[in-house]
Amino acid sequence: MLVEYAEGFVDNLRESFPMLRVVRGDARALRRARLLDSGRAGAVVSGLPLRAMTSSDVMRIVAGAFHHLHAEGAFFQFTYGLRCPVDARILDRLDLVATRVGSTLANLPPATVYRLERRRRERQGMANHDQEARHES
Ligand SMILES: C[S@@+](CC[C@H](N)C(=O)[O-])C[C@H]1O[C@@H](n2cnc3c(N)ncnc32)[C@H](O)[C@@H]1O
Repeated sequence: MLVEYAEGFVDNLRESFPMLRVVRGDARALRRARLLDSGRAGAVVSGLPLRAMTSSDVMRIVAGAFHHLHAEGAFFQFTYGLRCPVDARILDRLDLVATRVGSTLANLPPATVYRLERRRRERQGMANHDQEARHES
């Protein structure tokens, strides 16, 4: 599934990827969005221009994405910047860690991908919580 808010680009994506569901929407409202029919996603891949956004918008986007990710799920962010575009305060606040997983000089400008994931303690807590919820249902 793809989320994009520019109308022209949404049309273009629908044409290019007819097999995918393309949602026209604002990534800042991800938390409230009903995206998946059941369960949680394993990964979010983002090319959003986080470096040009306010900290509160970045916080809303990343928190919203993790709301839809299962315990081991990861958020992959593409960036042209030299550092992770999600700053340390936001990572701490959301109990996340960021790892640089790849870079390429072949892109102009050079590009890097970061993986954000929940800290181990948080992952375990969430997995236990999901297991309990499954037992109760
Ligand atoms: C640099 S382009 C990336 C294009 C493509 N997603 C990729 O990763 O190759 C950034 C895209 O993010 C979209 N965008 C920016 N803010 C957004 C938001 N709040 N919600 C949804 N899409 C947004 C823009 O319309 C633009 O198409």
